[in-house]
Amino acid sequence: MDKPQPVSRLDTTVQGLVGLGVERVDGPAKVSGQAIYAAEYRVDDVAYGVLVGAGIGKGKVVSVDVDAVKGLPGVIDVVTDYDTFIRVSQQGGETEAPTQGVKDIEYFGEIVAIVLGDTYEAARDAAIRLPIEYDTGAGVFAFSMDAERDGDLPENNTPAQSAQGDIDAAMDAAPVTVDVTYTTPSQNSAAMEPHASLAMWDGDGALTLYGAYQMPTSDAQQLAKSLGVAASKVRIVSRFIGGGFGSKLGIAPESVAAAVAAKRLGRPVKAVMMRQQVFDVTVRRSNTSQRMRLGAGTDGRLVAIGHETTASNLDTEDYFEPAGISTHFLYAGENRKVSHDLVRVNWLLSGSMRAPGEAVGLIALECAMDELAEKLGIDPIELRLLNEPAEDPEKKVPFSSRSLKAALTQGAERFGWSKRQPAGARREGDWLIGMGVASAARANTLMKSSAKVALHPDGTATVSSAMTDIGTGSYTILTQIAADMLGLPLDRIRMELGDTNHVPAAGSGGSWGAASAGSAVYLAAQTIRQKLAKAMDVDEEELTLKDGQAIARNRSVPIGSLTEGEPIEATGTIDKGKQEELFNQASYGAHFAEVGVNVVTGEIRVRRMLGVFGAGRILNQQTARSQCLGGMTFGIGAALHEELIHDERTGKIVNRDLAEYHIPVNADVPDLDVVFLPERDIHANPIHAKGIGEVGICGAAGAVANAVYNATGIRVRDFPITLDKLM
Ligand code: MOS
Repeated sequence: MDKPQPVSRLDTTVQGLVGLGVERVDGPAKVSGQAIYAAEYRVDDVAYGVLVGAGIGKGKVVSVDVDAVKGLPGVIDVVTDYDTFIRVSQQGGETEAPTQGVKDIEYFGEIVAIVLGDTYEAARDAAIRLPIEYDTGAGVFAFSMDAERDGDLPENNTPAQSAQGDIDAAMDAAPVTVDVTYTTPSQNSAAMEPHASLAMWDGDGALTLYGAYQMPTSDAQQLAKSLGVAASKVRIVSRFIGGGFGSKLGIAPESVAAAVAAKRLGRPVKAVMMRQQVFDVTVRRSNTSQRMRLGAGTDGRLVAIGHETTASNLDTEDYFEPAGISTHFLYAGENRKVSHDLVRVNWLLSGSMRAPGEAVGLIALECAMDELAEKLGIDPIELRLLNEPAEDPEKKVPFSSRSLKAALTQGAERFGWSKRQPAGARREGDWLIGMGVASAARANTLMKSSAKVALHPDGTATVSSAMTDIGTGSYTILTQIAADMLGLPLDRIRMELGDTNHVPAAGSGGSWGAASAGSAVYLAAQTIRQKLAKAMDVDEEELTLKDGQAIARNRSVPIGSLTEGEPIEATGTIDKGKQEELFNQASYGAHFAEVGVNVVTGEIRVRRMLGVFGAGRILNQQTARSQCLGGMTFGIGAALHEELIHDERTGKIVNRDLAEYHIPVNADVPDLDVVFLPERDIHANPIHAKGIGEVGICGAAGAVANAVYNATGIRVRDFPITLDKLM
């Protein structure tokens, strides 16, 4: 993908299915129980594995009294050797391998054994009773900004450090400044479906693992590496996934434990995490402390932008929450500094959770912008419009497409922003009412992905790829793309995803899934179109494919008849090209929130929200809207509810279930309004779409927080904003 492609074939196909709010093609299977999730596969002779987590936060296992439980009814065995001391670096990149044979316990709950039983209940009972003796070590269990920092971090998805001009001098000279620190807590992805694996080895030493993974292709490589077998020996099947939000990007401990145990036993092993284990051992989003410095002239133009983030992680991990990722390019300003460092703590390792970086980074940036607007006496939308950069202010490259201005102005109109009043000025009975705004931005990227399309003689087509659908709608949008490109009705496309036996794909993560897998399907279908044109002896441009017919030069034949009895097959592969260096690529948007704060109780209620987004071609209005609704709901959670509490004596996560870890429930979420701006990104990929999966969370919490300020005149900088902080 090195040349911009001003015309996409999707703009000239005639069925017009792409973009419509087509209902999920996998919906009927899901609501009728025919969609099988990892934990639900049934195989003969299965043993049930229950994980056992360490009861200390730092130290070593001295002994495990296996005999104490082995005689219990239904208990088969306990696997406790160091191969099952599993700490997985869940970033899921192809080069990342889990650490094998970890001998020290680095965080509370780290998996130290798997108990195997003939029933789940027997295994669970033994797992609870299993006596383990520890040698407790000295750990760091509390996050402190006074701790020594790790300033020497490798890049992950943003440079750890960047600087331009002289931020200190610019702050000193600027007539209006904001220098404030925001803190956000650890969070958990809290997907509905707990992590689960069913591991089966065949006689040739090949492993099939039914699991819940966002990126099976790289997950299979990771798993193979951790087991010490060739990647070709591991197949991962993840056909249906009940949410991931980052927690299923890389392999989780239960997969490795199930695979090791299955080999040991010579039986299939199914291991399903308890809800508490999902909190204990799948990655958390790091807590952050973010110092924001903004300096502006009295005209509101920014001259200084500083965003310095301190996050936390284990000593052995280099992942940092890239909170400054969109501060690199969201607003103009000559003097800039973005930095990240880590405090080392013996807490569950931190990793990617939905919109890693922006989700919490835009809380700091967008609340600081709100504070600056207040000091300047300029409307917060006006302040953002004033600081719209002409190009990427750091990289000095153009934006491939950017609808931030339109999102802010059209959103303001639709939301009724003109009715916003000064902080604390609007009261209805016992409720103070406020409005807030925040910009949204999420970097867009392509990840190498393939898809195979087979057009059959009966006029149906099969599309297959190791791409996944984590609940986002991949099955549906890929069906729409294939249907339009091949001129077939939706019900003639068979979509096969989530299996590493298919051609490889990067899967679902980082908002790249739809554009990457979608482009791969597009390219494969484009090759088939060319073959069909050849069969009709015309140029591909002359060919119209529609409702199962191929039409050119007054000839119309059933598409299947052009196959001459043999399927026509093609594989399409997309990869990152130079476009990502030549352009700043991101999805943009604006969030608007209205909240009520009760003057008696301090209770905060979101009354309405609007999100306006520009994300290139919207492939399916309905599934895209659902993604944004989910993101905005995450934003409400980040602003008002979500917070993992670590016990400062052990690092243990105290609120490790959905009763105690508060996420927004229906009563917390009012009607949310989502608007997509008409946009195409011709530089991004052949289908001109950008990511939509995460932009909905980016900035959402900031808009809610700014609305709380506008309602009350109280600026809470320590998230979540709970009622005690307003009293
Ligand atoms: Mo996303 S955190 O890359 O699933």
